[in-house]
Amino acid sequence: MKINKNFLDLEASYLFSTVNKKTREFIASHPDSDVIKLSIGDVTKPLCPVVIDAMHKAVDEMADEKTFRGYPPEQGYDFVREKILEWDYTKRGIDIKLDEIFLSDGAKSDCGNIGDIFATDNTVAICDPVYPVYIDTNIMNGRKDKIIILPCSAETNFLPALPAEGDAVPDIIYLCFPNNPTGTVAPKNYLKQWVDYANAHHSLILFDSAYEAFVTEPDVPKSIYEIEGAKSCAIELRSFSKTAGFTGLRCGYTVVPHELVFDGTELNALWFRRQSTKFNGVSYVTQRAAEAIYSEEGQKQIQENLSFYRENARLIFEGVSAAGFKAFGGKNSPYVWLQIPEGFTSWSFFDELLEECQVVGTPGSGFGKMGEGYLRLTGFGSRERTIEAIERIKASFGR
Ligand code: MLT
Repeated sequence: MKINKNFLDLEASYLFSTVNKKTREFIASHPDSDVIKLSIGDVTKPLCPVVIDAMHKAVDEMADEKTFRGYPPEQGYDFVREKILEWDYTKRGIDIKLDEIFLSDGAKSDCGNIGDIFATDNTVAICDPVYPVYIDTNIMNGRKDKIIILPCSAETNFLPALPAEGDAVPDIIYLCFPNNPTGTVAPKNYLKQWVDYANAHHSLILFDSAYEAFVTEPDVPKSIYEIEGAKSCAIELRSFSKTAGFTGLRCGYTVVPHELVFDGTELNALWFRRQSTKFNGVSYVTQRAAEAIYSEEGQKQIQENLSFYRENARLIFEGVSAAGFKAFGGKNSPYVWLQIPEGFTSWSFFDELLEECQVVGTPGSGFGKMGEGYLRLTGFGSRERTIEAIERIKASFGR
């Protein structure tokens, strides 16, 4: 037996595992410490009442022979996908077909698994800094030498430049907006350039819009399909994790339009084949939970939680700015990306913040080389702990 040696090309540990390990070690060696975690983007508010009610009802159905359900349909039950179609697309003037929506156990899985349907020798353009799953899963799939880094810096508000004339043309392009980790957003006219580029070069865009629910400004797109021409060049990945607090429930979906035809084959058919072979669907109870957010009352309830996290992000942005840090994001996004003081690396500042303030962030360099010099904080904490963290940062680093 031989192992998949591509795994040996990965960093020894996944970014958030390393952050958690370091945090655990700090707590073990400082048992009296009062650590505030603003590192991984994990929600803290309980599920909304409509979701809880739907789950209770679904559990009762599963307890009765007359209403019990076994394996769900491969792409998810129509009852939830019809709601997704109506609320996330049709109501926003986007024409998506029901069979283009694939329900899953989350955007992270889809983001990693989608690579199964692409040839190993595709070139892949990935931003730096970036959600590490894009890089790691491409390395696992043997594309280590096929990655084209798109450097993103503060000068362009972390929007990557399109390849110039004469540059290598990427076969696959990963884009994530609102962006993880920088918290910045992409205007429509900017995304239109990528869509036109992809259509002109027959490239595929993988658009991760896991954070779309944080968008409040009308000119900031929530879906790549708001951009004309996107259905012939883009797959969209969506998540209920941040939108409805499902990080522990696990549910998301991926849209694969029929217009996506490469090598004479519809990607929709390939993804269906992949999912129906390797994935047995989302639990019935979870699908009912997801369905429940698509009602006037459901939307109102999830918006209350989203507003709460948005306000946390705003407070962090204001607080660290008042302490003298240059910060990005915090608007249309739960993430604040702050430039760390001179003399620190991202990891040494992570340690300093933990030692001095007992606050945990995520070191920017964990998201790529261009993230060096930055640290990410999240708005997903409780209000009290978020304010406490800001006060501690101001007291230790305020200038
Ligand atoms: C993050 O902190 O970047 C996210 O929570 C990770 C994820 O969604 O998997």
